[in-house]
Amino acid sequence: MRQSGTVDQRATPKSEEAMRKEYYGRLHRKFILITLVCSLVPLLLVGWAINIHYTRFAKARLTSSFENQVEYHRKIIELFLKERSSKLHLIAQTHSEEYLGQMTNLAHVFEVMNQEAGSIMDLGVINEQGMHLAYVGPYDLMDKNYSEALWFKKVMERGLYISDMFTGFRKVPHFIIAITRQEDGKKWILRATVDTEVFRSLVENVRIGKTGEVYLVNAEGYYQTSPRISGKIMEKSPLPLETYHEGIRVQTIEAGGKESHERPRKEIMATAWLKEPRWMLVVKQDYSEAFDEVNYANYATLIFLHLSALTILIVSVLVTRHLISVIRKRDEEADQLNQQLLEAGKMASLGELSAGVAHEINNPLAIVLTERQILLDLAEWTPRLDDNFKKELVNSLAQIDAQVNRCKRITHNLLRFSRRTRSVIETVDLNGFLSEVVELMEREARSGGIKFMTSFDQNLKPVLSDPSQLQQVFLNLITNAIDAHDGKPYGTIHIKTEADDVNERVKVTVADTGAGIPKENLKKIFDPFFTTKPVGKGTGLGLAICYSIIQRLGGAISVKSEVGQGTEFTIVLPRIPPQAVQERVGAAEMS
Ligand SMILES: Nc1ncnc2c1ncn2[C@@H]1O[C@H](COP(=O)(O)OP(=O)(O)OP(=O)(O)O)[C@@H](O)[C@H]1O
Ligand SMILES: [Mg+2]
Repeated sequence: MRQSGTVDQRATPKSEEAMRKEYYGRLHRKFILITLVCSLVPLLLVGWAINIHYTRFAKARLTSSFENQVEYHRKIIELFLKERSSKLHLIAQTHSEEYLGQMTNLAHVFEVMNQEAGSIMDLGVINEQGMHLAYVGPYDLMDKNYSEALWFKKVMERGLYISDMFTGFRKVPHFIIAITRQEDGKKWILRATVDTEVFRSLVENVRIGKTGEVYLVNAEGYYQTSPRISGKIMEKSPLPLETYHEGIRVQTIEAGGKESHERPRKEIMATAWLKEPRWMLVVKQDYSEAFDEVNYANYATLIFLHLSALTILIVSVLVTRHLISVIRKRDEEADQLNQQLLEAGKMASLGELSAGVAHEINNPLAIVLTERQILLDLAEWTPRLDDNFKKELVNSLAQIDAQVNRCKRITHNLLRFSRRTRSVIETVDLNGFLSEVVELMEREARSGGIKFMTSFDQNLKPVLSDPSQLQQVFLNLITNAIDAHDGKPYGTIHIKTEADDVNERVKVTVADTGAGIPKENLKKIFDPFFTTKPVGKGTGLGLAICYSIIQRLGGAISVKSEVGQGTEFTIVLPRIPPQAVQERVGAAEMS
């Protein structure tokens, strides 16, 4: 590829390089930003929406499950109490005070009752004065007077009374169900103590996770059953008192009292009041445990979101990097093309100028040569001319001849450089063709101690090209290679051919072991009139001619060189040059 360069031209690409780097950097950041915004934002929004929706849904489900549990346990407790009170009611209504006041009768009723239900600890018949008429049970309570007991007053007042848990004479928590019957203007009471073990197991044996508990509290906030964790039966609950409410209430509370040293934690609590007695059923569980499943789902969503975001990030960085490299490559190709067009334009105008100058100079040169011949003839034929003068004149005229011939060579080269004649396209067997060129130059090379080496690709197919122009190219390259060995006693010129069947191209390299080309000259060697050879030895047009010929044939020429090691020129030619195709088409149309 052709490279040109003055000092200024070399300074410009540097700043251009920096600008380009900045431009691609900006493009890179912009691409990544756009990809991230376009993919991450929707992902986060969707993730966020799913998360909120799921949390809400899970909370609603959990609340409803708590409500169901409270409702279920309330029903069981109410059924238990109702069954006992109904039984007592039935016995009181179907038996008289006189009958039940007989110990043996009461014992018989007690036995029958416990056969069915099995949770009544004792049974007593009490008169209006609070004294036992009869009693069946494990204690000796016949002498006790209940007239001052709270339960006695309440049952006399209401007709049915279920007490709170109390220790009473027995010093163990228990509760009683009492019922009154009006008989002959007098009231008497049938009173039963409920087996608290059976009743408490109904509530206390319920298990909800590790932290869940179910218990009953009365209207004053005293436990009526033992909670699993928070306390014991008949102790005061630390929770604030709740007033009676219909239905089920679900709330979140802060657990752990002020004095408690544990970390404050949240609990979810569902409450429902029994109608008789006024006890509140509580179902409670640690918030974090209750929401374990939701939290797990949230963590999973979060991990999924993070992994997706990371994948998007990596993919966008990789894709952007790839895109930028493709864009960069395309830009470079476009730049190269522009540069080549610019060079081609420059060469075209230079060629035109050169052709004009060469043509204009050729005519006067011809006249100078004719005049020189006339002077030489005059010197020959003029008698009595001093010998020394004659010798001096002939020498001068020979010098004129040499210089005019040099000028002619230059104008000849200029005309070749600017040649716009059509190529004569023929089928060329490059291997054979190059062997002939080598043969042509072998004598000259050998005199400088230089040997030729050839590595020809035997699979090389013939190319369509202009052999006379190709000859000019390879002669120029080989001449340069021989010149580059000036001062070295020996060296080699290696000519290699290679087929590129995929792209329908051939590659020829001419490598020498000469002096090499300094980096600063590499950019200029294809410029017309650039030479490092002494005046009179080189015109600096050789490589410019090679360049314009190869370009006309649709190929490319490039160079690699290492000072002190040697230089390698590479020519890539299409097997069918574009011009030849045009000519073929033209010929086909004419025939
Ligand atoms: N094989 C090479 N090894 C080292 N330098 C080279 C080689 N080929 C070209 N050059 C350098 O490139 C310059 C330009 O070469 P080019 O063939 O265009 O002109 P020239 O050889 O100097 O003159 P001309 O070819 O017109 O006689 C040469 O002067 C030389 O410095
Ligand atoms: Mg040359």
